[in-house]
Amino acid sequence: MDHFSYRNNELFCEDVPVTRIADNVGTPAYVYSAATFLHHYDAVTKAFAALDPVICYSIKSCANLHICRLLRDRGAGFDVVSGGELVRALEAGADPAKIVFAGVGKTDEEIHGAIDAEIGWFNVESEAELENLIAIAESRRAAVRAALRVNPDVDPKTHRYTSTGKKETKFGVDLERARRAFETYGRQNSVQLCGIHLHIGSPVNTVAPYVQAIEKGLALINELRSDGFKIDMLDIGGGFGAHYKAAEAPAAVKYAEAIVPLLKGKDLQIIMEPGRSIAANAGILVTKTLYLKKSGERDFLIVDAGMNDLLRPSLYEAYHFAWPVKPPPEFVTNERGENVSLPGLLPMDVVGPVCESGDFLAKDRRLPPMKRDDLLAVFSSGAYGMVMTSHYNSRPNPPEVLVEGDSFRIIRRRETYEDLLAAER
Ligand code: LLP
Repeated sequence: MDHFSYRNNELFCEDVPVTRIADNVGTPAYVYSAATFLHHYDAVTKAFAALDPVICYSIKSCANLHICRLLRDRGAGFDVVSGGELVRALEAGADPAKIVFAGVGKTDEEIHGAIDAEIGWFNVESEAELENLIAIAESRRAAVRAALRVNPDVDPKTHRYTSTGKKETKFGVDLERARRAFETYGRQNSVQLCGIHLHIGSPVNTVAPYVQAIEKGLALINELRSDGFKIDMLDIGGGFGAHYKAAEAPAAVKYAEAIVPLLKGKDLQIIMEPGRSIAANAGILVTKTLYLKKSGERDFLIVDAGMNDLLRPSLYEAYHFAWPVKPPPEFVTNERGENVSLPGLLPMDVVGPVCESGDFLAKDRRLPPMKRDDLLAVFSSGAYGMVMTSHYNSRPNPPEVLVEGDSFRIIRRRETYEDLLAAER
């Protein structure tokens, strides 16, 4: 699952004690394990090897350049959704032919940038966007390849904010419109409409919604092919789960067992866009106890990381397991999540310094007794952690540290107050 474990009564990331990192870079800080990133990347590659897919790591989940380079060196392409993500992918040395560009609101500037970079595919999300892409490609006499994002109207059974494959969401076009879009735009040459893109949501902890979506996608591809359209690519998106509450996410092989037989021998270049399943369990947020406080019947552990550092608990009421980095010996455990139950735990809410009642990292938890300066690890924070930070309350963003074996390096420095002001000077 990951390379974070308690040894000699304290938390290690691979072979480095987390306290050593905190002493060096301060808190709050994101700490990543390279071996965990690679383990999860390799698991997807191996499970889906029979399809020989292009694995486009979804940059939005954890965008640090050094993480992108780590995965590029392992063979990854990239799923990008903005000009900024494209710049990151290129800066990380990505093979442009292995870049897919999705997103409902690509600007002209972003489209020009992606054509300049000669990316592999645009994932187009509407007829209007397709018309614009055609106009831009024609004006430049550029040859562009694109897939149409189809909304298969499948319930991924996940949080409503991260559910994208239901017809009431803004993503893609429904199956009927997709057919019409191919009729209207599928026979011109400047944008070669050669594939279908599906991304149903995140995290999707069951396999059935993928099967439903892919079956619908394949039925559409069959119809299109029999109408003479040349379809050679299917992008099945991202969305595979990660472990937050326990070991709740299916392993990559479980998804593959259901998906590979559907797609094998279909003469399609398969694209995958995993983000969370690679990054989530590869990172923790380390924070320090500032104060303990009682209010009414509730006990609050006030720490130095807030909703601006890790937004998921506030935004989705997401569960992240939190545990002291150096607990008293009777509380040392390599169990994680909701299953941890030990005598002597105390009920508390872990909250940050931001001026909002929604500023919490962990609510209604049972934790070992804590005191001022004790470090706390917030697990499974590698995906949608650092990338969703903000400067709310004028708080500088935390550093990111990458551990490889028994060494670590700062891959993004802590921001300073001067950084906060720089763009306003
Ligand atoms: N492809 C597309 C087109 C996407 O929109 C996404 C995620 C992915 C791939 C990667 O999905 P993943 O494999 O990471 O599940 N902020 C939310 C997650 C939003 C996901 C948005 N799209 C969270 O913190 O849970």
